[in-house]
Amino acid sequence: MTVRTVGIAGGGNMARGIARRLATAGHTVLIFDRKPESAAKVAAEAGDGQPGTVSAEDLDDVLAAEIVVIAMWYPGSVDFARAHATALANKIVIDIANPLDESYTGLSIEPTTSAAEEMAKAIPGSSVVKAFNTQPAPPLFPGVVDHTALDTYVASDDADAKAVVLDLLPGSGLRGVDAGKLSNSRLLERLCAFGIELSNRYHTDGFGFKFLPAGELPEPS
Ligand SMILES: NC(=O)c1ccc[n+]([C@@H]2O[C@H](COP(=O)([O-])OP(=O)(O)OC[C@H]3O[C@@H](n4cnc5c(N)ncnc54)[C@H](OP(=O)(O)O)[C@@H]3O)[C@@H](O)[C@H]2O)c1
Repeated sequence: MTVRTVGIAGGGNMARGIARRLATAGHTVLIFDRKPESAAKVAAEAGDGQPGTVSAEDLDDVLAAEIVVIAMWYPGSVDFARAHATALANKIVIDIANPLDESYTGLSIEPTTSAAEEMAKAIPGSSVVKAFNTQPAPPLFPGVVDHTALDTYVASDDADAKAVVLDLLPGSGLRGVDAGKLSNSRLLERLCAFGIELSNRYHTDGFGFKFLPAGELPEPS
């Protein structure tokens, strides 16, 4: 694993969980939010006691990171990326959005596309990768549900970018699963909505989805 610098634009619940997992793996995480006090609080909580550092930074510094996570709600996530397309050009941009409808158990987007694909259209000069979207933010912070490490599904049309994102995960407590091409984000976004529906039915506090292959997948270290 290579230690990297990851920017997160949007300093809310998911930024807290993603930053925590990345800091556990030793990465440097920079967080920007339009409310600086929110970014500062999230950074302090996420970095506390971890080998990597997490700090609240200005927008320019966050967009200058090697990899940028857009941790905002769709379609604002796409609007933000489009507005900063020049700064994001030639970078890996991670989309985590689930375009949930008002029920939170369905999607507001047509099934022939996904939030990630819409982001890729908005920033054609960037390599868009889908990741971190299939579990709620609370279990992402510790990275486990019922003592089981969470899987995160990583999809992209850029194989090199996908490999870089998967390489962020050893030591994070998350197991990365290569989820194929970016259009598989349609399934991954739907999967989270389905998880919310199941979670509502069973009144659970949180959930994750685990891929159980007959063969071996590397376990997180
Ligand atoms: N929450 C979950 O459990 C979960 C799980 C999987 C995936 N996701 C996805 O993760 C994304 C983020 O969810 P979240 O729960 O982390 O949301 P959140 O807690 O609302 O955090 C988003 C943060 O981004 C800020 N923001 C919005 N637009 C901005 C802009 N233009 N510039 C700077 N900051 C901006 C928001 O500020 P304001 O408060 O001022 O708007 C807020 O602080 C969503 O797309 C969601 O679908 C969430």
